Amino acid sequence: MKEQLAKIRAEALSAFEGIRDAAALDELRVRYLGKKGELTALLKQMGRLTPEERPVMGQLANDVRAALEKALEDCSAKLEAEALTAKLQAETLDVTVPGKAVKQGHKHPMYFALDEIKDIFVGMGFTVLDGPEVELAELNFDRLNAEEGHPSRDWSDTFYFDRDSRVMLRSQTSPMQVRAMDTMSLPIRIIAPGRVYRKDEVDATHSPMFHQVEGMVIDKNVTMADLKGTLNLLAEQLFGRGTVTRFRPHHFPFTEPSCEMDVQCHKCGGAGCATCKGEGWIELLGAGMIHPNVLRMAGIDPEEWSGWAFGMGLERTAMRRFKIADLRLIFENDIRFLEQF
Ligand code: DAH
Repeated sequence: MKEQLAKIRAEALSAFEGIRDAAALDELRVRYLGKKGELTALLKQMGRLTPEERPVMGQLANDVRAALEKALEDCSAKLEAEALTAKLQAETLDVTVPGKAVKQGHKHPMYFALDEIKDIFVGMGFTVLDGPEVELAELNFDRLNAEEGHPSRDWSDTFYFDRDSRVMLRSQTSPMQVRAMDTMSLPIRIIAPGRVYRKDEVDATHSPMFHQVEGMVIDKNVTMADLKGTLNLLAEQLFGRGTVTRFRPHHFPFTEPSCEMDVQCHKCGGAGCATCKGEGWIELLGAGMIHPNVLRMAGIDPEEWSGWAFGMGLERTAMRRFKIADLRLIFENDIRFLEQF
């Protein structure tokens, strides 16, 4: 037994020497000092010894246990110290290395244009509203006087979520007119910018997702003169003093009369060039006097109140404002393009 004890001691001590990590150390602890370890197994055989031998062996076994426990502790302390040194070394910071310059971004050109538009209208007492892109067809169409069967309600034009065509991605910001009428008290002056969606193929002037800014005024004695005055002011503030506009008759279900506003081409001054496709004018927005049906459906008496509204494409306005030729540049977010603004 004496030899066995000496053997365990020698083996264990040399094993502890070679240990490099905590898991391996724990394995050794279990192997030699654990309940089912080699030392314990040996001690269980003490019963076979003579009464004289027992205390001697007991003493010897205790010495071995103490030696192993000490080796275990030393080894564990050494591993901890090594881990700390490695961690400190890995985390050293060379304060003399030159810093990496942080690239600073800036606002997207389309949002420069939007902020200008917001400033212009907020300055005239309008409130800016935000609304859902997932909209009820009831608000996008019915409440805007676009009855069942209206071409824009077709599945080929609109992204619907359900078979009954009740929930959709809004195809225009105009449902915000209805939301404003339903929730605000009169008189109302609002603009509502945001994303809209249509099943269009991507090209230089189309994208299935684009942005509009809706605007609406409802008050007493509001006339087409207010519409023209306000929108002319918008054109002058966006594109410079003396910007010439023209209003053409048009049709929208939710306005009567309806019109489109064009701005004289900034490139050729109306003579006709590539920018305006030879027209001399560039279409900027749709507008009109709010249809009495739309007011009535919102519980507003058209005999007492009247209003006007407009909707403009934001990308198109930004393209004109910054002379950008292709709509795709606005969404591709190529740094070389964005850096120019
Ligand atoms: N919603 C129309 C469109 O997407 C634009 C528009 C036209 C909005 C006339 C209006 C309006 O508020 O009065 O083409």
